[in-house]
Amino acid sequence: MELLQPTSWHEYELLDSGAGEKLERFGDYVLIRPEPQAIWQKSLDEREWRQLAANRFDRAQKDKYRFQSDVNGGWDPASSMPESWQIHYAHEGLKLTLRLALTSFGHVGLFPEQACNWNFIFENVRAWRQAQPDLTPRVLNLFAYTGAASVVARAAGADVTHVDASRPGLNWANQNMQLNGLSDIRWVYEDALKFVKREVKRGNRYHGLIMDPPPYGRGPTGEKWTLQEKLDELVGLAAQLLHPRPSFFVLSTYAAGLSALVSRNIARAHFPDADLHAGELFLQALTHVLPMGTFLRFSRT
Ligand SMILES: C[S@@+](CC[C@H](N)C(=O)[O-])C[C@H]1O[C@@H](n2cnc3c(N)ncnc32)[C@H](O)[C@@H]1O
Repeated sequence: MELLQPTSWHEYELLDSGAGEKLERFGDYVLIRPEPQAIWQKSLDEREWRQLAANRFDRAQKDKYRFQSDVNGGWDPASSMPESWQIHYAHEGLKLTLRLALTSFGHVGLFPEQACNWNFIFENVRAWRQAQPDLTPRVLNLFAYTGAASVVARAAGADVTHVDASRPGLNWANQNMQLNGLSDIRWVYEDALKFVKREVKRGNRYHGLIMDPPPYGRGPTGEKWTLQEKLDELVGLAAQLLHPRPSFFVLSTYAAGLSALVSRNIARAHFPDADLHAGELFLQALTHVLPMGTFLRFSRT
């Protein structure tokens, strides 16, 4: 089991965590957001948190602001923060600009720990292109959210298919693609499970497969499933879609409470020949190490 943290962020920082919250800097703005796993004490005192933060997502405020139909969560409406802003990431030839915004779920459109997987995706695609200039790797990103991993794969030179069941998510991902001067990502608005089943039937194949499934899948036409029920099937279908080599696979899980050993057991059965790497992603701040979910990945060259 491995522990991975992103090491190339200059514009993102976890400053502190504790008492059910985290204090993070996203570019020019410091935010306070809920973090259910941070059940320890904060390192900095409450006054410092308040002084640093430009805004705070407070679950308790949900009721207070319920009269505002577009405010589902609890960002402080008195804050002078802009509606959206940008953050930059750079790592060995990879340069990314991503759009951030305060969403009603307390998200900002970015999971900073995923930078560990962005480096892996970029390095694999770039290395294949250098080794085989005739090969344009095909990458499939499932549950692709605001598209950071899609943009990374596209920037490295892959043909990218991005699948998500959220229209606003797809629009946001399109903006991220454009912000990076890229084009021609294939956008698919569909239940990811349904899409991969169809791709298997059609005999389509991919060189790279990325998936970050949520604990509960919700498709655009009423599909509902839990990760516990469907993860084995999803990984089995992924195995049928993946070229023998070169290929890579990246699976992340978060919030479902599953150990990385669960992902490894499932992947072991479907990819018996692969050199699997599994473990936890984390973010470091002061004295605390904040767990940010699991990864399982491999690359076959
Ligand atoms: C945790 S986010 C993925 C985060 C992303 N990998 C990243 O690092 O930026 C989960 C995404 O899955 C999408 N989703 C949920 N149910 C889905 C389904 N049945 N089919 C496809 N996408 C789904 C949501 O719209 C959301 O964008």
